[in-house]
Amino acid sequence: MTYTTVLTEIRGHVGIVTLNRPQAMNAFNILMLNELFDALEAFDKNETISALIVTGNEKAFAAGADIKEMADATPVQMITEGRVEVWDRIRQIKKPVIAAVSGWALGGGCEFVLSCDMVIASESAKFGQPEITIGVIPGAGGTQRLARLIGKNLTMEMVINNRTLSANEALQFGLANRVVPVEGYLDAAVAFAEEIASRAPMAVRMAKDAVNAAFETTLTEGLKAEKRNFYPLFSTEDQKEGMQAFIEKRKPNWKGK
Ligand code: CAA
Repeated sequence: MTYTTVLTEIRGHVGIVTLNRPQAMNAFNILMLNELFDALEAFDKNETISALIVTGNEKAFAAGADIKEMADATPVQMITEGRVEVWDRIRQIKKPVIAAVSGWALGGGCEFVLSCDMVIASESAKFGQPEITIGVIPGAGGTQRLARLIGKNLTMEMVINNRTLSANEALQFGLANRVVPVEGYLDAAVAFAEEIASRAPMAVRMAKDAVNAAFETTLTEGLKAEKRNFYPLFSTEDQKEGMQAFIEKRKPNWKGK
């Protein structure tokens, strides 16, 4: 599949999607959103790939929704064109998605990062929700996911007063997993993703699903969801292999079934 606004690459067991509208700071127009999700869905179905990375360039991960594309839009157009709903496609991806962020992650760019499962940030990464400066508010999950992740007060400051977070602040507040030098930030993300890709695939899938349940429901229901994912793993060959390998003091050989 050829895309015009994203690049795709496979390194080992990791599928990489690179946002590629540098002339617009990787702002998400409708085409790029659709190509991004098409590429992620294709990687999600590809059995040789176990973890996914989304990245931009050193200067910009993504500067949000394309302001020029939506400046004259009416509410009806926004709804019928599905400009916000399309973002829900990220929630259907079963494999872990890692954001490798350098430079600006603003507006929809920050919201996309918040929709990923883990974040590797370069030292130059900057996260913000500047929609207030153009007369709107985040529409792709920013108010909800940020508040759940970093708490109410800091979210209010970011959303209402355009406070940006540096890479180290993102690490401190739990928005980033690691901060790495700008040079080689993608290689660091690939190494991180390869480690995840070396885990038992079905267990990774069930783990992602169970952790996400924590953000959807009560503790009681979440604990039930965890058990629903835990018990079936005892029917996999990988559970038998993993436990036998531990007993025999050797590395497990995962089959993904
Ligand atoms: N949409 C469209 N074009 C954008 C863009 C965006 N979000 N962000 C940057 N660009 C374009 C600029 O218009 C400029 O194009 P021209 O060369 O044709 O003028 C080009 O990218 C380079 O940008 P700058 O000259 O502004 O670069 P800079 O280094 O001075 O600043 C920046 C970089 C801080 C990211 C700045 O571009 C900026 O503030 N961008 C807008 C950020 C923003 O407000 N994002 C929120 C969008 S709304 C949203 O995301 C809603 C949602 O919830 C889904």
